[in-house]
Amino acid sequence: MSQSEAEKPSNSILPRHVAIIMDGNGRWAKGRGRPRHMGHQAGAQAAEVVIESVARRGIPVLSLFAFSSENWSRPQGEIRRLMDLFRRAMKQAVPKLHENGVRVSFLGDRSRFPEDLQVKMGEAEQLTAANSGLHLNIAAGYGGRWDILQAARGAAQEVADGRIRPEDIDEAALGRKLSLSGLPAPDLFIRTGGERRISNYFLWDLAYTELYFTDCLWPDFDADALNAALADFSERERRFGGVGREGAESLA
Ligand code: FPP
Repeated sequence: MSQSEAEKPSNSILPRHVAIIMDGNGRWAKGRGRPRHMGHQAGAQAAEVVIESVARRGIPVLSLFAFSSENWSRPQGEIRRLMDLFRRAMKQAVPKLHENGVRVSFLGDRSRFPEDLQVKMGEAEQLTAANSGLHLNIAAGYGGRWDILQAARGAAQEVADGRIRPEDIDEAALGRKLSLSGLPAPDLFIRTGGERRISNYFLWDLAYTELYFTDCLWPDFDADALNAALADFSERERRFGGVGREGAESLA
């Protein structure tokens, strides 16, 4: 299939925000008799392809789970390799993303990342802040529970300072303190690698998100695989707790 064919969505219902857990790098490498870090390297290449595809389709927001708060418990050697990969990816990818009008944000607790990477994250955000193309979130050191906790702490502090009353904290107010504040909640969640879990990704924001799981290992995920996920999404009927089309007809 040609690239332009692969990138044609099956119909016009596109998500506004796609959130992806890029799982399966280690198994991809193992299956080829290669070390795990080679899988992460191949995973970074797949991420580039998917970012480009998502941008070309005009989907406004893409969030990639690059490193979870739990990933700090991986062996030191693997963490070191991953940090090196992030350094290289930032150096090579950020100028290209900027050229293509992509806005880059990093979500998560960056305080445990090496100092130079923290600086690079800030620089990439500043450089691309005014871009109006795809908004790319890289979740790094991110955990959904951490996100809710830091929002709750922020709200508690405002109460302690006498700036708001406890009853002022509603869903909208707490939502404004979460990492995805100001962005649409993910419409489509994709997890590669065969596991059927959310694994502490955007816990608050995934409340009504359509979930899509595929056995495809992340380094093999490409424009065709993305197209299959988008086609599946376009067939879902989203009810957000309501009765939906059929329910409404049967009540009429
Ligand atoms: C999960 O696969 C993957 C990660 C923990 C790292 C994800 C990082 C990348 C894809 C590369 C960097 C991407 C960007 C956007 C800079 P796993 O190691 O858990 O795989 P396994 O389940 O097969 O062991």
